[in-house]
This record gives sequence, structure tokens and C-alpha cells, in this order.
Amino acid sequence: MNENPSCLLHGSLVIEPASRELLPDLLRIEEACFSAPWSRKMFEAEMTGNPFARFLVARLVNRDAMDTTVVGYLCFWIVFDEVRLMNLAVVQTERRRGIATALVSRALAMGKAEGAVRAVLEVRASNHAARALYERLGFRPFSARAKYYTDPVEDAVLMRLEPLVAEAAP
Ligand SMILES: CC(C)(COP(=O)(O)OP(=O)(O)OC[C@H]1O[C@@H](n2cnc3c(N)ncnc32)[C@H](O)[C@@H]1OP(=O)(O)O)[C@@H](O)C(=O)NCCC(=O)NCCS
Repeated sequence: MNENPSCLLHGSLVIEPASRELLPDLLRIEEACFSAPWSRKMFEAEMTGNPFARFLVARLVNRDAMDTTVVGYLCFWIVFDEVRLMNLAVVQTERRRGIATALVSRALAMGKAEGAVRAVLEVRASNHAARALYERLGFRPFSARAKYYTDPVEDAVLMRLEPLVAEAAP
């Protein structure tokens, strides 16, 4: 696999911390991507009230290089020695271009720089796209939680990456 996923986007991808002004963009993507989306309050709580939480946003530089479009985001926590991936989405039209890989890779690198030794996440059992993404990054399933999700009710698969590596697995 390409070790620098942003190359797939010909250098036009920018990954950076999200700010509150981007909330409308994040909510629009969230509502389009999930059957039980996070509310504005949940986003705000993560952005302003949770000392462990980090938000990264992915922007694509538009053709004329004068503007950017928000195409994805990742909310994650760095809790002592652990990175927890909490929320990840990429707009439908820009999928399979390496954007989620770039977001997660950046989060893992940030966690590693702060001393994290593992990364964990929960994913719907039926979410084959996300599971394939995480597997490709080196995560492996290690447990499950029955009926963890609602709308629709579904099991969660718990996945772990340990030791934490910042690059995508081959
Ligand atoms: C899951 C999601 C974030 C992936 O975003 P993405 O930017 O398309 O992912 P990437 O382009 O980085 O994909 C990297 C790899 O993951 C795997 N993958 C991603 N989407 C896949 C799909 N639909 N089917 C099979 N494998 C897939 C592939 O191995 C892919 O590499 P490839 O394109 O070279 O084959 C995106 O589909 C999404 O936003 N889904 C809805 C929200 C969601 O499910 N979030 C995750 C909650 S845990």
C-alpha cells in the first residue's frame, strides 16, 4: 500500500485540527453517513468539554486552489497510553481515495507522539467498509458487545492495534 495516502489525491488533501466554525459541515456529513448520527451537542461536547478528545478534518483543495471543501473528519481520544477512535466519516462522493486512511494514520501518529502504545475502536458488525479499512491499518478484532448499537440494533466488534504503528500495514 502507498505509505502516504494523500499522494492518491495528488497532494490536494489537507488534514488539520477541526474548529467550531466547521460544525455545520461536520453535521451535514454526519447526518448523511449514519443512521443514528451524533447531535450538534455531542460534537460541541467533544470539541470544547472533553480534554481527551481531538478532532481532525480532511479538506480537499478545489480546482482553482482558492477554496477547500470539507470531505471527512475523525474524532478520537488520546487517553493516557491509548488512542480511541470515536467517530469517522468521509463524504460518499470522495470515498476510496485514501481520505479515511490519511485521517486515521494522522491520529495514530499523534497518539504515538504522545506516548500511546495501542489504539482501539468499536464498529458495527455489518460495516464491512470500515472493518476492511481498519484491518488494512493493522487493527484486529479482539472482542464483541452484543446489541451495542441502536437504529438498527446490532453487535459491536471491538478492534485493537497493538503495538501502535503510525503507518498503514502492507
Ligand atoms: C468507512 C469509511 C470512513 C472509509 O472511508 P474511505 O475514505 O473511503 O476509506 P479509504 O479510501 O481510506 O479506504 C482504505 C481501504 O479500506 C478498505 N475499504 C474502504 N471502503 C471499503 C468498501 N466500501 N469496501 C471494501 N473495502 C473498503 C479498502 O481496503 C480501502 O483500500 P482500497 O480503496 O485501496 O481498496 C467511509 O466508507 C464512510 O464514511 N462510511 C460511512 C461512515 C462509517 O461507516 N464510519 C466508520 C464508523 S466505525
